[in-house]
Amino acid sequence: MKDIYILGIETSCDETSASIVKNGIEEIATVISSQIDIHKDYGGVVPEIASRHHVKNITMVLEECFEKANMKMDDIDAIAITYGPGLIGSLLIGLEAAKTLSFVYQKPLIPIHHIAGHIYANSLVKELEFPLLAVVVSGGHTELIEMTDHFKFHKLGGTLDDAIGECYDKVARVLGLEYPGGPKIDKLSAEGEPTYQLPVPLKDDSYNYSFSGLKSAVINLVHNEEQRGEDIRKADLAVSFQKASIEAITSKARKAIIDKNIKNVIVAGGVAASRALRKAMEDLTNELGVELSIPPMKYCTDNGAMIAAAGYYAYLEGRRADLNLNAKSQDTLN
Ligand code: KG4
Ligand code: ZN
Repeated sequence: MKDIYILGIETSCDETSASIVKNGIEEIATVISSQIDIHKDYGGVVPEIASRHHVKNITMVLEECFEKANMKMDDIDAIAITYGPGLIGSLLIGLEAAKTLSFVYQKPLIPIHHIAGHIYANSLVKELEFPLLAVVVSGGHTELIEMTDHFKFHKLGGTLDDAIGECYDKVARVLGLEYPGGPKIDKLSAEGEPTYQLPVPLKDDSYNYSFSGLKSAVINLVHNEEQRGEDIRKADLAVSFQKASIEAITSKARKAIIDKNIKNVIVAGGVAASRALRKAMEDLTNELGVELSIPPMKYCTDNGAMIAAAGYYAYLEGRRADLNLNAKSQDTLN
């Protein structure tokens, strides 16, 4: 069979990224231009600033990607693009670039949902095996998704309020840690003990999550200690917070694995880079005797390779968009 090369473009938040992936599994070249250093001065992503930087970076990122791959647009079979969900201005920049390339070089355009991209980051390591449970833990999403085949998504449950990554970032902020807070909390956790009592979110019979109560509990605890003139033991609070949030993730994942008789579990999204979560998911799946796949760190946070990987399977399924494709800041996975 002829090799298929997909160009993946991702600009949904604060990373401008392009990647070329062969046959959905082999990363040929990836370029990621991160805006973290710009947004950290504001404590979070400022949408207008993010869009402006995508405009500035997109052409360079694409050129560098082709240079790295030693390839030309003519070598590409199709262009996969994140159309949503995400920041509307940011999405539009990548989308316009993808549409322009599709039009000029007459290449098929493949619309990819951002969370499908995170899920398919796992196929850059090993082909997905169905049925599987995807534990999606990102800055904007926290969901349990059952997949019976490629692009057959069935949402079992999700967060009723904040996403887990959002909660990590807010907690980091009250602890005085820089954006993005997730990696800082995870690092700090290694030095602490879980001595603070925090509520484990939404202990019920559903597959849903809720993180706003945990977030408020941490914020209130910090404010109360400050008012009393007590010092916060940051590392202890970081590990206490991680313990509670990870317990919420694993307890609902456990329920889904057992109820649905799942044999393959994958973790997807930026928070999958948390060493504590990776370890907890390894322990859980070992205990239940099921297969686990977690992407390497570089594929956990936003990147073009995951979009290209998803794009390959979408391409095989004949999924195409025309030049009327529009960005969607919110969209359900299907
Ligand atoms: O998937 P992602 O890159 O963007 C969205 O699609 O939202 O996820 C970003 C989130 C941020 O909240 C960030 O703090 C978190 O992933 N994150 C981590 C780690 N690396 C990134 N959280 C915990 N531990 C990490 N090592
Ligand atoms: Zn993401």
